[in-house]
Amino acid sequence: MTFSPTAVLVTGGAGFIGSNFIHNFIANNPACRVINLDVLTYAGNLSNLKAIEHHHGYRFVKGDICDANLVAKLLTEEKIDAIVHFAAESHVDRSITGPEIFVRTNVLGTQTLLEESRKHWQSGVVPDFRFFQISTDEVYGSLGDTGFFTEETPLAANSPYSASKAGADLLVRAYHETYGLPTLNTRCSNNYGPYHFPEKLIPLMIHNIINRKALPVYGDGRNVRDWLHVRDHAAAVEAVLKRAAPGSVYNIGGNNEWFNIDIVNLVCDLLDGRLGRTDGENRQLISFVKDRPGHDRRYAIDASRLKRDMGWGPAYTFEQGITETIDWYLANQEWVGEVTSGAYREYYSQQYGERP
Ligand code: NAD
Ligand code: DAU
Repeated sequence: MTFSPTAVLVTGGAGFIGSNFIHNFIANNPACRVINLDVLTYAGNLSNLKAIEHHHGYRFVKGDICDANLVAKLLTEEKIDAIVHFAAESHVDRSITGPEIFVRTNVLGTQTLLEESRKHWQSGVVPDFRFFQISTDEVYGSLGDTGFFTEETPLAANSPYSASKAGADLLVRAYHETYGLPTLNTRCSNNYGPYHFPEKLIPLMIHNIINRKALPVYGDGRNVRDWLHVRDHAAAVEAVLKRAAPGSVYNIGGNNEWFNIDIVNLVCDLLDGRLGRTDGENRQLISFVKDRPGHDRRYAIDASRLKRDMGWGPAYTFEQGITETIDWYLANQEWVGEVTSGAYREYYSQQYGERP
């Protein structure tokens, strides 16, 4: 059974993964309308979507997922038959210094979308419907040196960010179990690729190396993350949206574990050559700093359910993906400059007039 949506509400589509998803999805599904609802926090950047902003099937709406009236109006007027919900506060370090907004956006925002989805779906104005919660492997907590997270691993979130995502995932489960809402839920490992905000490890390291700034590595640098190219994540989400049974949960991961320090060394070495620096020069910028409180030691994803049911696997090798990503940042220094200077926040008013 295949689900073919005709009008998808993408939340958080101006962020890193949402914008990459929209690029892929519009290219693959020219007949489906895409409505991007994003409130444009510091992480939302409309210039990520420049290439498709005038596409006939695309509409941007500046608004908050916690605004129930706005969500209800969009669902009705656009006859939305799928919500792909990326919008979130996504950065773990920010959740440690300010957890409240994480609960508001990630828990309350998801609940608002679920409740408006329930009413819309029960009204019968669309023949079929999906509510798709985009989540993270961090809801499972931390692993030791061996083992993998499966979809049956109990939720054991350790940071305010991951706790808020776990809370949202449980609400999604509850709306399926209680009301029968046709939900989907994926949990993905660390993404990398174009449009990644330079507060996250890989783009931060690239940016600091280019500018000869210190490279802060938390703790002993031996925490492990499983890296997946963002376009591979986008492809997996599209496959699950169209083919997964309502109520299902899928892990998504690259089977590509790295110690943080090895990633940082790799990025240093690849940039030595590209920046015309001597071998090993960039590694001298590495600075081991105080550890992140509650820092999860290791994440590793078992994505075999997704491979079995959808035939999905990563299209990018890590070597290809990281090389292309470094080259993308070098070729898009204007984008990085706008982000780091804050100028990207003016892009909305240039394109759409004053912010409401
Ligand atoms: P991001 O921080 O780059 O983007 C988040 C987007 O959500 C921004 O455009 C922001 O403006 C928008 N937003 C925030 N609050 C909003 C609100 N109240 N109403 C409307 N829009 C709002 O995040 P990302 O890295 O692209 O992550 C997207 C989703 O994927 C998140 O749900 C995250 O938990 C999940 N995820 C991320 C990763 C990763 O490696 N980055 C991995 C697995 C899962
Ligand atoms: O696993 C999926 C998650 O990956 C997503 O749910 C989150 O939204 C996303 O932000 C990411 O979380 P992490 O905390 O793993 O990503 P981050 O890039 O912040 O850090 C990656 C690792 O690098 C982590 O072990 C902390 C470490 N780190 C990070 C930064 C920013 C450093 O050592 N130095 C740094 O400066």
